Amino acid sequence: MGQKTKMIVDKDFRLADIDDRLYGSFIEHLGRAVYTGIYQPGHPSADEDGFRKDVIELVRELNVPVIRYPGGNFVSNFFWEDSVGPKDQRRKRLDLAWRTVESNEVGLGEFSDWCRKTNSSIMMALNLGTRGTADALNLLEYCNLDTGTYYADLRRQHGADKPYGIKTWCLGNEMDGPWQMGHKTAAEYGRLAAETAKAMKAMDHSLEFVVCGSSNIEMPTFPQWEASTLEETYEYVDYISLHQYYGNRSGDTADFFAKTQDLESFLHSVTAACDFIKAKKRSRKNIYLSFDEWNVWYHSTDSDNEQMAAKPWQTAPHLLEDIYNFEDAILNGLILITFLKHADRVKIACLAQLVNVIAPIMTETDGPAWRQTIFYPFLHASKYGRGTALTPVISTGTHDTSQHCCVTDIESAAVYNEEKQEVTIFAVNRNTDSDIEFEADIRGFADYKAREYLVLESDDMKISNSATDSPVVPKNRTDYKMDGGIFTAVMKKCSWNVIVFSKESR
Ligand code: AHR
Repeated sequence: MGQKTKMIVDKDFRLADIDDRLYGSFIEHLGRAVYTGIYQPGHPSADEDGFRKDVIELVRELNVPVIRYPGGNFVSNFFWEDSVGPKDQRRKRLDLAWRTVESNEVGLGEFSDWCRKTNSSIMMALNLGTRGTADALNLLEYCNLDTGTYYADLRRQHGADKPYGIKTWCLGNEMDGPWQMGHKTAAEYGRLAAETAKAMKAMDHSLEFVVCGSSNIEMPTFPQWEASTLEETYEYVDYISLHQYYGNRSGDTADFFAKTQDLESFLHSVTAACDFIKAKKRSRKNIYLSFDEWNVWYHSTDSDNEQMAAKPWQTAPHLLEDIYNFEDAILNGLILITFLKHADRVKIACLAQLVNVIAPIMTETDGPAWRQTIFYPFLHASKYGRGTALTPVISTGTHDTSQHCCVTDIESAAVYNEEKQEVTIFAVNRNTDSDIEFEADIRGFADYKAREYLVLESDDMKISNSATDSPVVPKNRTDYKMDGGIFTAVMKKCSWNVIVFSKESR
């Protein structure tokens, strides 16, 4: 047994209101995310518009408030006009990012219909790679205006009387990356992003903008990129983006679980860059963080690269179809806890992606939709992680891993949902050697009782789910104690734990 962990949870330890968009996700026109993912006319579960109802149900289960669309790298050579109007007249296009053919059978209008069905709203990414301000303005008029002008009327002609009302816009995607179509230097990008946001705000004052930060913490231009682009855009934007994917290529589980230390440092550095420019500009406004791509991504990369080189220009090929295992779910839980610990600054986060492409939801073309291991931590956080993030006061042991030192054994966050009179503790025991006794003092919440204790536990780090078998599913534990406002339980090594307290035990 490792060193005992103690946590204090109190109403007065308020960190921040959690923005529901912390539980956002992402759909890119990539691989089978759209075609045979969300959309498959002729599938037994397809609705009248060709959308798979089995997928809609799973997305609703995850309760995803916002979905970034349509890319990703795809967006940097996306011609939105090709994706609207009568389907039989839509042009097929080469997608240069993933070397595939985009049929445009699903476009803006269809995606907006799908979002209505899933109770989500669109966070729209603009092509600031191969296109620019004028096209962004036309798209905005098409989406949001009712002015009797050309593009607003075009949307009506295409059958959408009511504007889509898209509030949050991403000013391009990963523009610091040499792989991006229309990649730019920070100075070039900063000017274009500022002018585009300025012009779009002139059209619609209510918009919010996300400026591109670095594609990941390893980029050679990080964090100067953040400072330089914010220098140009500070007064026009509201958020800066962060993207990060993790992998365990070396098979070192303990070190894999320590990677949220790097994530913490990424969050601190970007926050510091924002606040440095704030001080320089004598501004009163804060820039918030939009972590609009995060996940584990490495299982499929080698075969994808081979396929894109050897067999380009397919429509909806199998790409980025990572099959996630147990340890991937644990890392995702750690990432969600990290976001909750920084809920004062991280306002948007998008699990990348949602269906088939590095996704919690998979579909069989001739069969059912199913839940990957990573579905569950996201489900729990989305369900119980709304309300107020409480500052975690915790004392826990530490251990070293091959690349990280002083790694906390238990990572934890607590959320208070005042409306539902519910407090939830999310915790991961990331010690790979020891079970740990965990004590939570919740006396600050008089009359609250433990109602539910959900866990993901396994001795096999590499076990996965599939269309026919789901060995990784949450289980309910009842072997805990609740005595005078003190909760105690033994948290298994390598486990995801969700303890829900409520005013009345049910
Ligand atoms: O999500 C997959 C890809 O990862 C996105 O297209 C890109 O933005 C990032 O590099």
